[in-house]
Amino acid sequence: MEKKIVFASHNKEKAREVEEMLSPLGIAVLTLADVHLKQTKEETAETFEGNSRIKAEDIASQCDYAVLSDDSGLCIEALNGFPGVHSARFMEGMPYTEKNKAILEKMKGMKDRRAAFVTAMTYISADRTIERTFLGKDDGLIIESLPSGEQHGFGYDPIFYSLALKKTYGEAGEDEKNSVSHRGRALRQVVSFLGGTDNGTDTGNR
Ligand code: IMP
Repeated sequence: MEKKIVFASHNKEKAREVEEMLSPLGIAVLTLADVHLKQTKEETAETFEGNSRIKAEDIASQCDYAVLSDDSGLCIEALNGFPGVHSARFMEGMPYTEKNKAILEKMKGMKDRRAAFVTAMTYISADRTIERTFLGKDDGLIIESLPSGEQHGFGYDPIFYSLALKKTYGEAGEDEKNSVSHRGRALRQVVSFLGGTDNGTDTGNR
């Protein structure tokens, strides 16, 4: 029988990305909407690992499927890791053009532009005997001023210059970004973990 995993996110784009990577392993990806579940616990941890565990354990407690969760954000060295785990909540409700402008304003005149995008992904097996968290990170720099011209991607992509890509995420195509991005790196670790073992996803139909 086909193996299934619940991806603990409402983001369809991310679920599609995860599906693309896991389907060659014979694993079908279900979203929270597919299984009619909701996150019930707040993300109160101070780390991405902590928050991804909260999400995975929350959903695992509500179903019998294997679960995969993720938590990501942008960490800026000179701002002591800000916005970090608060990346989604910083200036909540405002468009990212405004958020990005505010970050560049905060960093005006700062020489140290180092930053990293970070993702933690937590996998919990269907029989609940395995819980593993994987970390992906892409190092870069915060650019000095908002770019003009059309941008790809979302969120803080336009202001993050990836050292691996030698361009901003906003200038990169989707596949190019995934080849080095925090989420891509974390997801490839999940894939090699699940591909290298009897992956414990089982059918979730117990
Ligand atoms: P999430 O935990 O993956 O939903 O990410 C939380 C927040 O971090 C998002 O709402 C964005 O503000 C930011 N973020 C995470 N990943 C990216 C990315 O790849 N590009 C731009 N912003 C991101």
